[in-house]
Amino acid sequence: MGLGEHLRQQLAAKALKRQLDRATEEAAAPGVPGAARAETLPARSRFESMPQYQQVKIMREMGDKLRVGSPFFRVHDGVAGATTFIDGREYINFASYNYLGLSGDAAVSGRAKAAIDRYGTSASASRIVAGERPVQRALEKALASFYEAEDCVAFVSGHATNVTVIGALFGPGDLIVHDARAHNSIVQGAQLSGAKRLGFPHNDWQALDELLTRVRREYRHVLIAIEGLYSMDGDFPDLARFVEVKERHGAFLMVDEAHSLGVLGATGKGIREHCGVASDAVDLWMGTMSKTLAGCGGFIAGCEPLVDMLRYLAPGFLYSVGLAPTLAEASLAALERLIEEPQRVTQLQARGRQFLTEAREAGFDTGESAGFAVVPIITGSSVRAAQWSNAMFDEGINVQPIFYPAVEEKAARLRFFICSTHEPEQISRTVATLARIAGR
Ligand SMILES: Cc1ncc(COP(=O)(O)O)c(C=O)c1O
Repeated sequence: MGLGEHLRQQLAAKALKRQLDRATEEAAAPGVPGAARAETLPARSRFESMPQYQQVKIMREMGDKLRVGSPFFRVHDGVAGATTFIDGREYINFASYNYLGLSGDAAVSGRAKAAIDRYGTSASASRIVAGERPVQRALEKALASFYEAEDCVAFVSGHATNVTVIGALFGPGDLIVHDARAHNSIVQGAQLSGAKRLGFPHNDWQALDELLTRVRREYRHVLIAIEGLYSMDGDFPDLARFVEVKERHGAFLMVDEAHSLGVLGATGKGIREHCGVASDAVDLWMGTMSKTLAGCGGFIAGCEPLVDMLRYLAPGFLYSVGLAPTLAEASLAALERLIEEPQRVTQLQARGRQFLTEAREAGFDTGESAGFAVVPIITGSSVRAAQWSNAMFDEGINVQPIFYPAVEEKAARLRFFICSTHEPEQISRTVATLARIAGR
C-alpha cells in the first residue's frame, strides 16, 4: 500500500472514530443531545433515530471506508477448534475457546446425543417449578467437587450468571469493586444491581487495598470481582494478594474462571492451582461451560448458604429455563475428560508458550500475555489490525482483530486463542505468516 493511501485510511479512521465517540456519548446519555435536535415525535419512535443505531452504522462504515472486509459473523461449517471450515475452505483457527478440543470430541458428543434421546432437547421451564433432570445436578456436583466447594449451581448463560448473581446478592448500600478490564457481564451485573461500582487499575491489588482503606466503612457488603485469566490480554492476577486484601477489608471475592478453567494449573484446576491458593479462600468461583467445557451456560461454586440463596433467589435461575440436559451432559463429559486426561492441559500450556516465544522472537508486541491460551499481538491501530486480520484470512488463518472502542486505539490488536489441538507446525506457520505480512 502506498504512503498516500495509508495516510488517507488513517485520516478516514480518525474522522470515523470522532463520529463514533459522539454517537457513543449520545447513546450513554440519550435524550440530552437528541432533545437539542429538531426531531419530530414520529421520528423519535423509529429505531433508526436511536444513537445506538448510529454507533452500529458508523462501525460498519469504518469497514467500508477502510476497504477491509468485516471479520465478524463469519459462518463456520463444522467443529471450530484448531482448524475450521469457512465457505468451503479450511483455516487454521485462532478464534475459538475450544481450549482442550473437547467440543467435537467423539466421547463428549456421544454422551450429549444419548442425553437427547433420554431427555429431549430442552428442559422447557425453570427447575424450581418444572423439576430437575438428574444430569443437571450431576454436573453441579462434579463442578463442586472440582472446585472443592460445598455446592454449585448452573445457569443457562455465562454472561447471565454474572449479571444475575451480582444483582441478586448486592444492592444499594453495597460496593462492587472490579478490575478495570473485567468482562462486560461483571460490569453489567454491578451496574444493574444498584450498588456503588468502582473500578481499580488492572491486576493492581495495592491500588485496590488503598481504595478499600479509604471507602470500605461507607458500605455494608463489598464484592471484589476479578478474573482468573484475562481474555483481552492473556495475563492473570496474583490471587494470593487479592485474598489478603479481601480478608483485610471484610469483603467477598469473586473469581471469574471463564478462561482459566482447564487452562491454568498443572491439572487445569484454574488460577487457584496455578497460584497455590486454597479453594475456600475465594467466596464465589464463577465459570462458564462454553469454553473448556464444550457446552453453554455458567456456574457458581461456593459454600452452601451462597448456593442456597442463588437457587431460590437469583432471577436468572428462578425465572429462566434450566440448563438443557444435552448441554449439561456435554459439559459433564468434558469435565470428566479434563480430569482423566490432564495431558490435554499440559499440551495446551506448551502450545501457548510456543506461540508467545515465537511471536516475541519475531519482534511482535504481545503485551502482558503470560502465554496461556490467550496471546494478543498489538498492532497499534485499528486499521492495521483489520488489514493484518484480512491478510491472514487470505493466507488461510482465521484470527480476530480487536478494534477501538473495545480497546484503546493504540492498543488495537489481533487476539489469538490457542487450543491444545493446535499442531506446533501450525503455530510456527502462523507466526511466520504474520511476520511476513507485517514486513518483519
Ligand atoms: C470473563 C468472561 N466472563 C463471562 C463470559 C460470558 O460467558 P458466556 O460466553 O459463556 O456467556 C465471558 C465470555 O467470553 C468471559 O470472557
